[in-house]
Amino acid sequence: MRPDLKKIMIIPALTFIAGLVLFSPRLSTAENSALPVLTEQLRLQALDYTAASLRRTVAELGDSFPVATEQGVWKKDSGGWTGGYFAGMLWLMYIRTGDSYWLDQARRYTGLLEGNKSDDNNIDIGILFWPSFALGYSASPQQYFRETALEGARTMLKRFIPGGGYLQNWGALGNKEQMGYVIIDCLINLDLLYWATDETGDSVFARAATSHAERTRIAHVRPDNSSYQVVELDPATGRKLRGFHKQGYADESTWSRGQAWGIYGFSRVYFRTGDPVFMETAMKMADWFIDHLPADYVPYWDFSAPGIPDDARDSSAGSMAASGMLEIAAQVKDPEKSSKYREAAGKILSSLTRNYLTRGLPGNPDGVLTGGTYFYQIGSSVNQANIWGDFYYLEALLRWAEKRR
Ligand code: GLY
Repeated sequence: MRPDLKKIMIIPALTFIAGLVLFSPRLSTAENSALPVLTEQLRLQALDYTAASLRRTVAELGDSFPVATEQGVWKKDSGGWTGGYFAGMLWLMYIRTGDSYWLDQARRYTGLLEGNKSDDNNIDIGILFWPSFALGYSASPQQYFRETALEGARTMLKRFIPGGGYLQNWGALGNKEQMGYVIIDCLINLDLLYWATDETGDSVFARAATSHAERTRIAHVRPDNSSYQVVELDPATGRKLRGFHKQGYADESTWSRGQAWGIYGFSRVYFRTGDPVFMETAMKMADWFIDHLPADYVPYWDFSAPGIPDDARDSSAGSMAASGMLEIAAQVKDPEKSSKYREAAGKILSSLTRNYLTRGLPGNPDGVLTGGTYFYQIGSSVNQANIWGDFYYLEALLRWAEKRR
């Protein structure tokens, strides 16, 4: 065999063997039911792998952003609703390491999102700008980051419907047909508004955010603490007309990522407002989530998915819920409750790291976590990586070590 061909074959083989040696093997069902929490050794290995995967993504991207994979290869866009997650991962890496490589990349991809700052047809400015411009401003204080994030928050605020008390989620600004629909996912946009109040002292942003969160708490969370993804509200009064699903299995089922948006979103609203009703809601939604997890602690894409136990998972719902539970654990005053959510998050992270990394998989797929599901019903990125799942995984790995209390 030609020496250069030998090299080509030996490198993937060594990478695969290194993957087996460095990482504990995937666990059997019996082992999963007694799942250990994340160890420090596993956490550090996971962070190294995440850094290597991110560097590879940066090298492949050019001026576009990774969204989710199909057949292991990133589908890209110019920012969409997910571009902030990629910039946010780069900022988190910079904050962790102080390495100028991450700073340069974080600045570059943050800047590429600037064009969204005056798009009042897009509610997702919140999640585009919070992990990019706002997080960037705290990591590398430049007026450009602050001013752009504030402009984004002012644009987003135009979508607040005073009669209904919530932010218009779908459609162009003022579109009457779309105006009533609110998704639980939208909680993730509120951090930018709270941040804008902290920066400017103008409470108008925070008041809109809290009103939206309160509408969501009342309308989306069912009496048993499971959730609807979509609710139709009367824009004139905020009264609930009906609840249903878009990305879940059925109107009365619980889409796992929707439940995770709730855990994460309400934990952040509590962090910002200190209102115990939001902490209670986050904890009750987390309790429901934990009680319905399968043995390996990574949820199916919907808790009532018809093909369980052979149906697709959504690892991104797992990483998002884990990060949210660590926020709860850091904020809640009762130490027993804090331990409970920290332990559940530690088990999810341990399982994701042992069982769901792309490392060592055939074809060397893009992204950090496999087993994510974007939109099952239309077959979009099922059992694949996605950038929000990777972001929350990285955030949770970092939160795990913070032990903030
Ligand atoms: N709608 C955002 C998501 O797929 O979670």
